Amino acid sequence: MAVLITGGAGYIGSHTAKTMRKNGNEVVIYDNLSTGHREAAAGFPFVEGDIQDTKLLKTTINKYGITDVLHFAGSSIVGESMAEPQKYYLNNVCVTLNLLQAMMESGVKRIVFSSSAAVYGEYGNNHLTEESRLNPTSVYGRTKLMVEQILEDYDKAYGLKYISLRYFNACGADESGLIGEDHNPETHLIPLVLKTALGQREKISIFGDDYPVGDGSCIRDYVHVNDLALAHFLAMDYLLKEQQSNVFNLGNGTGFSVKQVIKEANDAVKKQIPCEITARREGDPAVLVADASKARSILGWNPRYTDLKEIIETAWLWHSRNPQGF
Ligand code: UFG
Repeated sequence: MAVLITGGAGYIGSHTAKTMRKNGNEVVIYDNLSTGHREAAAGFPFVEGDIQDTKLLKTTINKYGITDVLHFAGSSIVGESMAEPQKYYLNNVCVTLNLLQAMMESGVKRIVFSSSAAVYGEYGNNHLTEESRLNPTSVYGRTKLMVEQILEDYDKAYGLKYISLRYFNACGADESGLIGEDHNPETHLIPLVLKTALGQREKISIFGDDYPVGDGSCIRDYVHVNDLALAHFLAMDYLLKEQQSNVFNLGNGTGFSVKQVIKEANDAVKKQIPCEITARREGDPAVLVADASKARSILGWNPRYTDLKEIIETAWLWHSRNPQGF
């Protein structure tokens, strides 16, 4: 397979590029570098371009004989999406229509789409299955759901085959320590905790400890980025063999509270990371934990990293070796 990876210079995209190549695929990275890093795409054929640019997309597909697309490009900060909805509808929904147009005009009919647990919204304390109610609480989540619906319609009308992968909380870094998470600004819990451990921040804020669950801090399902990467390879393989669209949750199925994450991080970095309780962050559901049994049984996905401390150790390797990021 020759795979075009949009957003392949970003966090999950760059890890997936490596995994796809390790599994024998040709990979071309397409990224406008608005949030990605050229260094993350080092060693891959790289096209600097925007997915608004249908012409460049078609030229790229044609030049490299692309057969499949992994679509990561987009905006992904929940809080920002509430303040700047237009940016999210443009970057996540509109440009995806361009991408699909370029694909269809070039005869490419398979795509794996980066969706999110944000399509579910609040759901009590139960594990979320793919059948759980879709009720996004953020603009970001709505844009992901809209693209899922667009893909469904394109399948019915044009025979486009797709897999939507609903990621829970991506974290960790490649074992090489050469690529990892580098957002600007950083908003995610684990990198912020590790930046605090590095002395780049005074303390880590725990956004609320008065939720009616566990120890009172929010519970999430943390899944290693290379396990997510592997799921993309399995999803592409499934599309090729089954010629059937599908949707899968990707999570470990175990919830950790913010306080538990900080405790595991203390153990991983062998120091006490300063923290404080602050107000809740707007739009945060109390609990988001996956039931990923469908991905396990249908894709044969078997996450390698189930120990949160070990996941954080891989992130620590990246952050401690590259304290300023790329
Ligand atoms: N948190 C803190 N302090 C911080 C940062 C985060 O307490 O400084 C808390 C949040 O309130 C949340 C948890 O840590 O309870 C995880 O927060 P992240 O910002 O790391 O991740 P989110 O759960 O908000 O969102 C992530 C992705 C989304 C995706 C979602 C799915 O960013 O794209 O996981 O679960 F939709």
